[in-house]
Amino acid sequence: MSKIPVILNVDTGIDDAFAIALAVSSEFIDLKLITTSFGNCPVKTSTTNTLRILELIGRGDIPVAVGAAGSIMSYLQTVVGSAAHGDDGLGNKAALLPYPEIIPSTMTAVEHMAKTIKESKNNVIIISTCALTNVAVLLLSHPEVAEKIDGIAFSGGSLFSGNVLPTVEANVFSDPEAAQVVLNSGIRVLMCSLEASTGAYFTFEDRQKIRQLETRPSYFLCEALKHHADHFENLLLREGSVLHDIVPVAWTIDPSTVETKPYYIEVDLDGRYTRGSTVADFPKQRRANAAVCMKVDREKLVDLVVEGLGKIG
Ligand code: BDR
Ligand code: CA
Repeated sequence: MSKIPVILNVDTGIDDAFAIALAVSSEFIDLKLITTSFGNCPVKTSTTNTLRILELIGRGDIPVAVGAAGSIMSYLQTVVGSAAHGDDGLGNKAALLPYPEIIPSTMTAVEHMAKTIKESKNNVIIISTCALTNVAVLLLSHPEVAEKIDGIAFSGGSLFSGNVLPTVEANVFSDPEAAQVVLNSGIRVLMCSLEASTGAYFTFEDRQKIRQLETRPSYFLCEALKHHADHFENLLLREGSVLHDIVPVAWTIDPSTVETKPYYIEVDLDGRYTRGSTVADFPKQRRANAAVCMKVDREKLVDLVVEGLGKIG
């Protein structure tokens, strides 16, 4: 069985850390490269966090390339930091892990992505769990690689809700122009909307299942998850921490974990309070440019993560 070559674009981030672990654990994914971005924390921190997580799970061999420190239109807005992820991006628990010994690639994220795609025998899937800046710059600066990209699955966007503004989700808010470039690229896009990814929540019991694996990665990830749980329980007034970013990885491993509908999606680039909204053409007058994830199978996701973490460390 040939594995799917994957490039993962992250702003690690608690749910990004789970996304990395899930991707690494899968027998269907060949994780070729991780690129980093600003978002949950500055890009320097998200890079260190990514290296820490890779060392923790024993995959220091996967290259990590440093990416964008801000959005394409940084002078309009650059958002860095998130209460959900703590000051260090890992629930204020990063110091539980040693400073990483592995170092990032000498290439930039965009150059390393282009090289990886060109050299890959099979077409690549890009999974993005942060602002799409690195991906958009890749498509604009290396248009020749588009034909070798089988799909771009991203965590972000929303149909009816928001988590930074009433109708705006954080990853698209972080770089609306980049999201628009990706949606207009003609490449198959999966948008894992906020409404669906909020269904990827882990309860106290689920956390216990992870903890009971009794490995270093499961111990650390559970510690980080506690911070996340407190944040989400205050915000959503219900039990559970939401791991948005596992959704595009889960879809790549097993598409039956999500339900999708095709829509034409455009990003609002001008709104005063709605800039970064992903607006769906509900009357379906225009040809769809994305499969939008509408719902997740929570139980399947939890099983996938627990089973995956069981294979690590
Ligand atoms: C997204 O924002 C970040 O905080 C999370 O890591 C996730 O990628 C959810 O809106
Ligand atoms: Ca993220």
